[in-house]
Amino acid sequence: MKNILVTGGSGFIGSNFVRLCLEKVPACRLINLDKLTYAGNPGNLLDVADDFRYRFVHGDICDASLVGQLFQEEKIDTVIHFAAESHVDRSIEGPAEFIQTNIVGTFTLLEAARKAWKLDNNEKSVTGDDEAVTESSPRFLHVSTDEVYGSLGETGLFEETTPYDPRSPYSASKASSDHLVSAYYHTYGLPILMTNCSNNYGPFQFPEKLIPLIINNALNSKDLPVYGDGKNVRDWLYVVDHCTAIIKVLQNGKVGETYNVGGNSEKQNIEVVQTICDILDEKVAPLESGEVRRSLIKFVKDRAGHDRRYAIDASKLKNELGWEPSVDFNDGIRMTIDWYLDNTEWISAVIDGSYQDYYDKLYGER
Ligand code: NAD
Ligand code: DAU
Repeated sequence: MKNILVTGGSGFIGSNFVRLCLEKVPACRLINLDKLTYAGNPGNLLDVADDFRYRFVHGDICDASLVGQLFQEEKIDTVIHFAAESHVDRSIEGPAEFIQTNIVGTFTLLEAARKAWKLDNNEKSVTGDDEAVTESSPRFLHVSTDEVYGSLGETGLFEETTPYDPRSPYSASKASSDHLVSAYYHTYGLPILMTNCSNNYGPFQFPEKLIPLIINNALNSKDLPVYGDGKNVRDWLYVVDHCTAIIKVLQNGKVGETYNVGGNSEKQNIEVVQTICDILDEKVAPLESGEVRRSLIKFVKDRAGHDRRYAIDASKLKNELGWEPSVDFNDGIRMTIDWYLDNTEWISAVIDGSYQDYYDKLYGER
């Protein structure tokens, strides 16, 4: 039985992970530590709230005493660290929270793990010495992003060895957390694993991110803002595929290693937006104006420091652990649009802010 501390489990990827892990890994107990910022939505996990293997804890990863207490009382042997401020535009408007949660929060978790797993700086580093690591050894899996590698030109792919070159406060804060995680491996022998993944999309994504924002605006006849010339490229991965990769890395990854995760699915932003418009024109009632949804597209001022292109080489994950994405973009975008069409209550609650009341319904007053 693994006792897993999942941080940020009420967010987009975290909630998809909690659901999948409870389904695929019967011998696990999941403790979800989440601060419930604007991005945390307990309504994402209503269906598992009563599972006896699941516990929700409302709290901050920067709270060292709470984190230390959880390690002791739940005998945590595994950490899957999702909690972060995740939106690039918000990091440009106000970086402070990104520094606090992404850097200080990661540091707080690393310290708690180091203490609970009795690793101190007198202990030999495990670098190059894997014999001590067994199946039942503790693991700290840090979930990170391809944005730490910076921006690509027309060609090339990010590899695990690509030098870090973060350009936004968000990616700089994630890069900083990655370096801390790596330092705890080399210095204290903390048994870490790291994943750097490309853009996720799918159910339960907060509608500030490109895909759910465009779906929601296009359904409500609102402008569809495309930054700059719309030719920036992202690699898109269906969120459940990211979660299966995380389980694979947790179970079979080599301690101390980083694995890139990607969807082999590079698209220009304008292509993504046009695809969503066309699928919605096919599936739902036409706009009142009678025009196609592409008519709502508006090219707007570019994001400051907008990275031009991301693309991932995920061959290490494929060759060493046998993971490949199972959902291609054409299917995944249709599944995602169907999910938003079928879950109008979820999206309305997020838009009007009432989603935060789910907490009181589930767990009583804060
Ligand atoms: P999200 O913004 O949807 O969710 C973040 C969650 O963390 C929320 O539930 C929030 O309440 C919680 N949280 C924030 N600050 C906290 C704190 N101080 N203490 C406890 N909980 C806190 O993010 P996401 O898109 O699900 O991303 C999850 C992780 O995956 C992040 O680390 C992100 O950098 C990484 N990532 C995301 C993507 C992507 O495309 N979304 C791609 C690669 C990596
Ligand atoms: O690459 C992984 C990263 O992907 C994650 O680490 C981040 O947490 C996640 O937010 C995402 O970052 P992006 O900045 O790539 O995602 P976003 O959905 O904000 O934007 C995707 C692209 O679309 C980007 O080039 C900016 C553009 N865009 C975005 C918005 C919100 C627009 O053109 N218009 C918009 O309104």
